[in-house]
Amino acid sequence: MKNYKIAVLKGDGIGPEIVNEAIKVLDAVADKEGFNLEYNEYLIGGSAVDVFDNPCPDETIKGCLNSDAVLFGSIGGPKWDNLPKEKRPETGLLKLRKSLGLFANIRPAIIFDELVNASTLKPEVIKGVDLEVVRELTGGIYFGEPREKTENVAFNTMIYTREEIERIAEVAFEEAMKRKRKVTSVDKANVLEVSELWREVVEEVHKRYPLVELEHMYVDNAAMQLIRNPKQFDVILTGNIFGDILSDEASMIVGSIGLLPSASIGGKVGLFEPIHGSAPDIAGQGIANPIATILSAAMMLNFLGEENGAKRIQNAIKEVLAKGYRTKDIASFDAKEVVTTEEMGSLIAEHASK
Ligand code: IPM
Ligand code: MN
Repeated sequence: MKNYKIAVLKGDGIGPEIVNEAIKVLDAVADKEGFNLEYNEYLIGGSAVDVFDNPCPDETIKGCLNSDAVLFGSIGGPKWDNLPKEKRPETGLLKLRKSLGLFANIRPAIIFDELVNASTLKPEVIKGVDLEVVRELTGGIYFGEPREKTENVAFNTMIYTREEIERIAEVAFEEAMKRKRKVTSVDKANVLEVSELWREVVEEVHKRYPLVELEHMYVDNAAMQLIRNPKQFDVILTGNIFGDILSDEASMIVGSIGLLPSASIGGKVGLFEPIHGSAPDIAGQGIANPIATILSAAMMLNFLGEENGAKRIQNAIKEVLAKGYRTKDIASFDAKEVVTTEEMGSLIAEHASK
């Protein structure tokens, strides 16, 4: 029987609740598909600070590198907000991404027909949306040096090298080849030098993908177009900070930030996490939506080559939503039944093992 080693990093806030549901679903699917998942838990974020005084301990990095994939929940919370930068949970996540070489972050936004009423946008605007943000994850202003804060002045540096742009552009064009063959590269080339280089390199890489249509869009316009007519997009290729912002925006097309999964790839192992944060305000109440994490688990199965298992999960989510089950965040007038985090996980697990 095939065995996969999964590093599980539940993290903080709602992290443990949502990851537990994803594991429930994964186990149901593994059982049916005849493979085995071996989980090893490691600490990350605030919960790692509490134990090791370090938001990303070496043991966690080693554990991840020793696995076939990483399943990640969420990090952060008010308890750790006032710590010095190097101890903040967010710093731990950034260090983890960098240490694992995860330079490409894929964030698909697929609208479930069943949820067209959960979005604040009009059904005719969002029905049929199927786009994906390819976000550069280990460069840009997040990591640029120098960076500094003094009493009266602070600065960060937005920096991209040709090589960094090239490899993320390749990921975007490869994704587009598997999809609708269109890449929208988002930058701010009317103001930033780093975006000028971004455009040049993206165009060079494009020459190797003549079947893919390429367009460039300024980030301010992209933010507007995403709401005006999201169906125009297939793959949105962009840098670290623009991708962070646009993917949160894209989640509102789908109806809830609790619905968007992500895959971070480029290194030896892939890391799979919902795009949302740790939502400390609702942690422990059983109302968090586990679907983003469960969809991330499906992306993980695809990455491991277990495509049938991934399909089982996607279909199960569709069926459960079609029957009217909703967590609180996506409950609207058509919800037959509002369910808890755990109930949603169990329903999806049940349907996935049919
Ligand atoms: C995300 C998050 C992180 C980011 C934070 C928690 C550091 O917002 O994964 O989108 O900005 O990348
Ligand atoms: Mn974000």
